[in-house]
Amino acid sequence: MIKFEFIHTDHEKEPENLHERIPAFTNDVTHSRHYLGNGSTERTYWCCHEEDFYAYIEVLIAAGYEVWQENSIGGNRFATLVNGELDVHVEWYPFMSQVKVLVEPQSTLPVRESENSYTDRGFKPTVTQLRSEYSDVDCGMSYACQLCDGSFVVIDGGMSNHGEADQLYNHLISKLPEGEKPVIAFWILTHHHPDHVNCFKDFADRYLDKVDVEALVYNNPSYDKSKRTGEYLIGEYTLIEQAVEKFPESTKIYMPHTGDVYHIRNAVFECLWCQDGLAGDSMDNTNNTSVVFRMTLGKRKVMWMGDASRKATRFMIPAYGFELAADTVQIAHHGYGDPDWAVYYYMRPKEALWPVPEYRTATIEGLSAYLVGKLGVKTLYFSHTRDYTLDC
Ligand SMILES: [Fe+2]
Repeated sequence: MIKFEFIHTDHEKEPENLHERIPAFTNDVTHSRHYLGNGSTERTYWCCHEEDFYAYIEVLIAAGYEVWQENSIGGNRFATLVNGELDVHVEWYPFMSQVKVLVEPQSTLPVRESENSYTDRGFKPTVTQLRSEYSDVDCGMSYACQLCDGSFVVIDGGMSNHGEADQLYNHLISKLPEGEKPVIAFWILTHHHPDHVNCFKDFADRYLDKVDVEALVYNNPSYDKSKRTGEYLIGEYTLIEQAVEKFPESTKIYMPHTGDVYHIRNAVFECLWCQDGLAGDSMDNTNNTSVVFRMTLGKRKVMWMGDASRKATRFMIPAYGFELAADTVQIAHHGYGDPDWAVYYYMRPKEALWPVPEYRTATIEGLSAYLVGKLGVKTLYFSHTRDYTLDC
């Protein structure tokens, strides 16, 4: 049988063909290869069946790999296997009849349920959307979730020119007994646009001695790959890397892949999309590199969309369908641009957290009408008004 290999030249050259160091895929009829620009290399195997996914896992186990984690979301299957040198992520997507195999050097892997030890101190789990100041920018978002032991999950943080880092710190200490040092157990940076990460950089400069940050979570494209978007914001990329270097060595760095599950105290985070999904595709919009997480905290499922746009949502809809169901959604990309609104149809949320200024109300009128009128969303929480805290 003739095998075809499609090599996408729009991406950087692989620093090393890591796939030569792992066992051959068991049903390699046709594949395409990609370097993700973040240290991972990927092969997408076409014309596959579910049994090919399982057969390959058995091959890896026979070669000495150990299963670190397995997950299933909406009929898609995911597994991470490790051998102490390489991590291999295997993903099966029935709607595309594809198996994707990602290989990367040994990395910090998701916290497994068995390692997730914590003490329930009786804090009520909550999600807070922090008010954003939009007088000189029309975007930005900042969220903090408190877990049952009092620690926090932060999502982005917003801009920095209106004291957002102070605002975030003051929020954290307001939720704790006086004098207690806040612990950020998981800080998700959805993507490297300034309205999402500038606060993070300011926070890294001024608050690292006042807060314990256990883990940073991001999956950004490389500088060269980002450059291909032609965005003037490319300078932000290196600033994030510089900010990350200010954190102590004890701060873990997680690079999530689609299908990964993180158990963080009494919260569970499942990664439904990340920039890996753009492999082989044109890199024309950094918003589509947003990491999308579904969080389960207490009785509430929250979909954190970041600025996920058309390519991300056009993947999520056929991949997950009604498995996207969530109580609460953070509206993707502030309600602007081209995310496919059908993604909300499949989520059927009761509430929407909406990071958008009042003066863009006209821009988002159509989506508001769709959510409330067609989908029956009960409450829209707008971030330009005040902080909103939802019990979980
Ligand atoms: Fe944004």
